[in-house]
Amino acid sequence: MPLTSRIEGAIDAALTRATRGTVPRKLAAALDHAVKPGGARIRPTISLSVALACGDDRPALSDTAAAAIELIHCASLVHDDMPCFDDAAIRRGKPSVHRAFGEDIALLTGDSLIVLGFDILGLAAQDHPTRAGQLVLEMARFTGMPHGICAGQGWEAEEVIDLQTYHRAKTGALFTAATRMGAVAAGRDPEEWSELGARIGEAFQVADDLLDVMQPSDVTGKPVGQDALHGRPSAVGELGIDGAIRRLEDILSGAIASIPACPGEAMLAEMVRRTAERLTPAHHAAHGTAAE
Ligand code: IPE
Ligand code: IPE
Ligand code: MG
Ligand code: MG
Repeated sequence: MPLTSRIEGAIDAALTRATRGTVPRKLAAALDHAVKPGGARIRPTISLSVALACGDDRPALSDTAAAAIELIHCASLVHDDMPCFDDAAIRRGKPSVHRAFGEDIALLTGDSLIVLGFDILGLAAQDHPTRAGQLVLEMARFTGMPHGICAGQGWEAEEVIDLQTYHRAKTGALFTAATRMGAVAAGRDPEEWSELGARIGEAFQVADDLLDVMQPSDVTGKPVGQDALHGRPSAVGELGIDGAIRRLEDILSGAIASIPACPGEAMLAEMVRRTAERLTPAHHAAHGTAAE
């Protein structure tokens, strides 16, 4: 089955679990709005690709891990767009959740998606107690404090911010979670998969900073010029456009080299090459799109 079908199938199953029966109608609609249609689904694609490269001996668990990561990502976007953070009116080319449903529902949508991500991992523990328990811990580590997404967003409230620490937590953490959780789902040691995730994550945030200044909103599907507007540290702010492009190329060239030896090494190298291509500004200029 193609990766996309596996990912969408697992996400749909999770959403159904959260919205079945007699439920508050608006909140259920907001969950759907936040998750579907998706963006690039890059994190679950990475997670499943690593699971496959490691043998994918428990496919249902690999799918659940991939879906859980994407649910956390969607939650982070809903909260990130709210007026107390970036106050963004659009996301993925449509109104952000608080613009479509109100701030109260947006807050609850993010909360519900985070809980749902952990819920489906907990459910998987019935069949795979050891691996699922490990997956819960991995996802918590890269979502909360002290080094997860919450920490990343928390840095924005500080006077002095180190760009690398900020990026690693805000964005890198979930990419590291993606490679590590793919490995755990397939029964492998996650340690050797951290570097690949961290490198892709760092490259991804530099690319996102470049997009913020290089592409119009109708291409990115979200407001642009946000880093300067909110005074956020960014790779472009620190290094300039040319410097950020060089930095991106440096990070990406190290990513493939960091893939651990495993049965699916060649397949994974190809996936990283394709991801890297999509992140580079030359690709954006040629294709006029950020998320295809
Ligand atoms: C956007 O992530 C948020 C950042 C961490 C920069 P994506 O660009 O992966 O968003 P979607 O899921 O494709 O919309
Ligand atoms: C979003 O970072 C990261 C998280 C949601 C944790 P940004 O604020 O830079 O991303 P975009 O540009 O809104 O997608
Ligand atoms: Mg933000
Ligand atoms: Mg934002």
